[in-house]
Amino acid sequence: MEKEEDLFTHQDTLANLHENLPLTEKLRFLHQVIRQDFSFIDRLAIALFDEQTEMLKTYTHSTEGSDNPVTTYEAPLSAAPSLRTIIEHRRPRLVQDLNIFSHGTHEHTKRIAARGYRSSYTMPLYQSGAFIGFLFFNSLQEHPFTLATLRQIDIYGHLIALMVINELTAIRTLLAAVRAARSMTHYRDLETGSHIDRTAHYARLIARKLAASYKISDEQIEHIFLFSPMHDVGKIGIPDNILRKPSKLNDNEFDVMKTHPEKGREIIDSVLKDFSLGTFGHVDILRNIAEYHHEAIDGSGYPKGLKGEEIPIEARISAVADVFDALTSRRSYKAAWSNEEAFAVLRKMSNSKLDRDCVEALISNVDKVLEIQQHFRDDELI
Ligand code: C2E
Ligand code: SIN
Ligand code: SIN
Ligand code: FE
Ligand code: FE
Repeated sequence: MEKEEDLFTHQDTLANLHENLPLTEKLRFLHQVIRQDFSFIDRLAIALFDEQTEMLKTYTHSTEGSDNPVTTYEAPLSAAPSLRTIIEHRRPRLVQDLNIFSHGTHEHTKRIAARGYRSSYTMPLYQSGAFIGFLFFNSLQEHPFTLATLRQIDIYGHLIALMVINELTAIRTLLAAVRAARSMTHYRDLETGSHIDRTAHYARLIARKLAASYKISDEQIEHIFLFSPMHDVGKIGIPDNILRKPSKLNDNEFDVMKTHPEKGREIIDSVLKDFSLGTFGHVDILRNIAEYHHEAIDGSGYPKGLKGEEIPIEARISAVADVFDALTSRRSYKAAWSNEEAFAVLRKMSNSKLDRDCVEALISNVDKVLEIQQHFRDDELI
């Protein structure tokens, strides 16, 4: 009969994947494992496809530090014929010598080649048959991939694909549940679809601008983009007579209104529990945005009275996106302000209420702000 110690001699090399880690950390871990067998693989990266805009955007990568050639980058898929071909054929592409792409090709490829990468294996990722993005295996060597290695690399590729799908499904489920809850209350009448889109895009604009100085990763930027519009979900728990009051709130009413961040956090936590999603990587970004988007830099905000850096950066970013869109939109109790008036108020609020860097990031990008406003107009009346 075997002894206990014989039964437990093998340590599962992929055991870390059991842990509740953000996708980027799982990818870094898998990269190390892959390198034990295929030392020539110097970089793994994932780019996601946005169906709505047909843009391909950087999502995450396994290279440590700031050495990544293509962060915070987004380009239309139509600008990358070689990548489009991969989708059309539904097959991976092997490029043993990236020099063949050194002329007139996608910005992404140029940056990869400029950074010294010489070869690449690109797998298209699918969810239920629909294309969702690419997985790149890059090497600094030329011609390192053989048929035998590719067979094993494919297996890792599909494992990574499942991890990505798992993460995206969790996010979609969460957003769908929150939207469903919202659509069953009168709160839905107060916020139009375009408000949701604008808030998301303003928040992303700010996050991208601050990415380098605040070390915000592409994965975090994407979550800030997706979750910022959910900041006011707690308003579904505010009585209609207060929520829809066509004039100024009195102090008592405002006290009730001020419970919406905590209510939001509770709603999110209960959705996470009901759908057993408590554990996916960046769920705290959503929690923090819901709970802390009315905190103020000087500590005068609510619910907790947090100060400065105690307020998570995602909440500081969402606060600016929220206030700017609230000011430039018509509400039942106020008219819409012009961008210039709104910028002036934001400037005045910066350092006391709002984070100065976040305000600057928005104001210094007037062109993009106008683009977002043109793209997502309020055509329905509130
Ligand atoms: P909201 O409409 O999404 O506004 C978000 C934040 O934008 C506000 O947070 C405030 O910081 C800023 N904001 C909005 N409108 C104005 C404005 O006319 N002037 C200035 N200086 N800032 C503005 P706040 O104050 O904590 O309010 C939270 C929520 O309470 C608002 O969300 C809104 O739903 C409600 N609310 C606030 N004031 C009134 C009011 O007088 N009447 C009604 N019916 N609701 C109000
Ligand atoms: C491309 O063809 O743009 C992809 C290059 C790579 O990252 O492997
Ligand atoms: C952005 O959202 O960062 C760019 C502007 C746009 O989406 O229109
Ligand atoms: Fe709010
Ligand atoms: Fe709001």
